[in-house]
Amino acid sequence: MQSIVILISGSGSNMSALVRASQEEDWATRYGAPVAAVISNRADAAGLAWAKQQGIATQVISHQDFPDRAQFDAALAQAIASCAGAGKPPLVLLAGFMRILTPGFVQSHAGRLINIHPSLLPAFTGLHTHARALAAGCKFAGATVHRVTEVLDEGAILEQSVVPVLPEDDAPRLAARVLATEHIIYPRAVRKLLAAGLS
Ligand code: GAR
Repeated sequence: MQSIVILISGSGSNMSALVRASQEEDWATRYGAPVAAVISNRADAAGLAWAKQQGIATQVISHQDFPDRAQFDAALAQAIASCAGAGKPPLVLLAGFMRILTPGFVQSHAGRLINIHPSLLPAFTGLHTHARALAAGCKFAGATVHRVTEVLDEGAILEQSVVPVLPEDDAPRLAARVLATEHIIYPRAVRKLLAAGLS
């Protein structure tokens, strides 16, 4: 068994898409990969209530309770390990988790740490991806599911989606069009990893 732990900071729509896919396709039975927990660094993350309603364990580890990144990451790693239970160490899915992780955390979860980023990487790492794509005059935008390395928004690309940029777009409109595709490619990427036993 290899459980899944999802990390969020906000609305959690990618987390919901992952949980729905895991329920509909019975990842627990098919791959031995139940979604064990949703952890947020913010107590007000809207996704927490939805996860609770689904009967999934939730936990808040606030980064504000720790003096530095390393100590927050250590607490996060401990929470992930304790949620995961028996079996292989869990697959950790960053789903709108807006914290930069320390090299130590990344190394201790190597090969099991996946992120979704709202741009066609390697373009537009970091924040404000949609506004920057519009300012650059991009004709296409999209999202990327990738493995996490110590370098921000770098790492092997697992899936990408592409959407057109329309003349009337502003950042929120473009973000909504991209987000709808994120909900397709993130579950697809995880399904492929689980099916291949690669995580
Ligand atoms: C998503 O667009 C995700 O790609 C992005 O935050 C949003 C979270 O939405 N992630 C990042 O920017 C990470 N650098 P959600 O909470 O509804 O899934």
